[in-house]
Amino acid sequence: MSASERTYIMVKPDGVERGLVGNILTRFEQKGYKLCALQMMQPSKSLLEEHYKDLNTRPFFPRLIKYMSSAPVVGMVWSGKNAVKTGRKILGATNPLDSEPGTIRGDYCIDVSQNLCHGSDSVESAEREISLWFPAGVCDYQRRYDSFIYE
Ligand code: TYD
Repeated sequence: MSASERTYIMVKPDGVERGLVGNILTRFEQKGYKLCALQMMQPSKSLLEEHYKDLNTRPFFPRLIKYMSSAPVVGMVWSGKNAVKTGRKILGATNPLDSEPGTIRGDYCIDVSQNLCHGSDSVESAEREISLWFPAGVCDYQRRYDSFIYE
């Protein structure tokens, strides 16, 4: 765990269409994480199949790829101490029926197949996803504001 730990967070098509991009981004920004990359794109099926390759035997996989490629997504990279684990907490449990109020999924959605956002589940998968979605790299910069966030 380090202040340079990075995670890949993505607002899915339902989050973009419902106008929740700003809300989701603001939660990470206000928590104190540092924004290192931001992009809007409509992903190809092949990019999504690679992103979700660990799930390709699951029954919901074809539906997931269809939904994720149906409209633009907004992807971002956030860095900071414990960014992966805390990022997952900010998102809430995968199934919104189990997500706590106060989390993004707990507050704004109902169905697991329309759960608004993605967050990397380990440091290794975060690094894999960041290379996949941002092959040209992301911004790396010193933030003066960090002295108010970290001891
Ligand atoms: P998963 O990697 O298990 O969850 P998370 O997104 O929290 O890391 O699943 C990826 C996505 O697949 C999930 O966000 C929504 C979709 N999904 C379904 O549509 N049905 C399901 O039963 C599950 C488990 C996931």
